Amino acid sequence: MKAKKEWVAMAQAVMDQAYVPYSHFPVGACLVTQEGQLFTGVNIENASYGLTNCAERTAIFKAVSEGQTAFQHLVIAGNTETPISPCGACRQVMAEFCAPDMQVTLVSKEGQVREMTVQELLPYSFTDGDLPRG
Ligand code: THU
Repeated sequence: MKAKKEWVAMAQAVMDQAYVPYSHFPVGACLVTQEGQLFTGVNIENASYGLTNCAERTAIFKAVSEGQTAFQHLVIAGNTETPISPCGACRQVMAEFCAPDMQVTLVSKEGQVREMTVQELLPYSFTDGDLPRG
């Protein structure tokens, strides 16, 4: 199987593990390191709602907590009619850890795909370069 097809399949398969008792809206993600290591993630909800962690943030946090910070691709898959649209918080986290030109593949229920870069998802983002140097 071609690499990207495999990453999409991983993101779709992991959706089964989503913890979504409140929204019943499972999302799966597959983050690929520069070296080709794969980190999957699902959304994990909470009775307090606001503590919900989205699938793509789960994947990014899993990778970073395992010492990986160089990424080449992210796939996000939902049971949606059109390719899923990541939330603003996740776009900000992507901007923190992923290069502006990194490709993100957004996938719908039927496998329809939309490709966007991190910069296209969050233009004029606030990053470490905006902080004063101490
Ligand atoms: N969600 C994600 O996990 N990723 C997205 O890209 C969009 C939204 C989750 C959060 C919540 O558990 C559910 O989808 C409904 O908002």
